[in-house]
Amino acid sequence: MKVAIIGGGTMGEAIASSLIRKGVTQAQNIVVSDLVQERLKYLKDTHHVKVIERNSEAAKQGQVVIMAVKPQVLQQAMAELVGIIRPNQLVLSIVAGATIDTIRKGLGHDAVVRSIPNTPAQIGQGISVWAATGTVNPIQRDMARQILGALGKEIYVTEEKYVDMATAISGSGPAYVFLFLEAFIDAAVHIGFQRPMAQELALQTVLGSAMFMEKSGKHPAELRNMVTTPGGTTVEGLQALESAGLRAAMVKAAVAAYEKSRTLGSEKGSAI
Ligand SMILES: NC(=O)c1ccc[n+]([C@@H]2O[C@H](COP(=O)([O-])OP(=O)(O)OC[C@H]3O[C@@H](n4cnc5c(N)ncnc54)[C@H](OP(=O)(O)O)[C@@H]3O)[C@@H](O)[C@H]2O)c1
Repeated sequence: MKVAIIGGGTMGEAIASSLIRKGVTQAQNIVVSDLVQERLKYLKDTHHVKVIERNSEAAKQGQVVIMAVKPQVLQQAMAELVGIIRPNQLVLSIVAGATIDTIRKGLGHDAVVRSIPNTPAQIGQGISVWAATGTVNPIQRDMARQILGALGKEIYVTEEKYVDMATAISGSGPAYVFLFLEAFIDAAVHIGFQRPMAQELALQTVLGSAMFMEKSGKHPAELRNMVTTPGGTTVEGLQALESAGLRAAMVKAAVAAYEKSRTLGSEKGSAI
């Protein structure tokens, strides 16, 4: 599979390195374009991919053209590609908030996949939600699935609104988890742990609990009940979290991020 990546930043690099690591394609089949020469040199030296300064030259070389620039420069990057992308090429956008319609009109191209990956993609543990236009053929769909699958899990949806919704959950979600972890670590320090031990305890507790939930296949409430001895210590902690409004705060976060993603999606570009 020949892949052109427009924008060799954090996500562009994550995609290139994952495609190579997972054997989806080889380094010589990947071309990356970026405005910054040092960045291109770094990508070439580190991942041995082909690099080109001009987006239009890169785009010509991919069966799949991945748009991985920041939302603020998307219009400019698309303007350089108008009339360049052939009808049989697939455009796969990871630009947060940029709708299928925006990409389609901006490029004058119909075969478009819009996806929303997340930052754990950098270590192959991401999750992406993606939608495709009707003109994306089964072979292109499979290519999109392979590319996003290299970043972690991928979920195809038939309606684009789920991509906006996922932006608020899995796209922004790592930030929620990091905030929770930060607060958890600080709480451990507050009761007297040294910071390194506080971090190890908090991190492994989150990792272990998530993996336990995945492996057991049980509902989280059931797992929570298993550690909640009547009249014990856990119930005291849980009660404090409930009265501080943890559940309501989660709902507020999801709704606020979703509303913002929809508002920004109707403007020109947006950001996670
Ligand atoms: N990070 C995430 O968690 C995440 C998750 C899902 C989706 N996304 C989306 O992924 C996209 C990329 O995010 P990122 O975190 O990888 O951003 P990033 O690190 O800033 O990468 C973007 C790269 O594109 C370069 N660039 C700017 N203008 C360009 C142009 N006209 N042509 C070619 N390259 C250009 C940038 O160079 P300069 O540094 O000089 O500007 C930069 O190297 C964003 O649209 C974001 O919404 C990100």
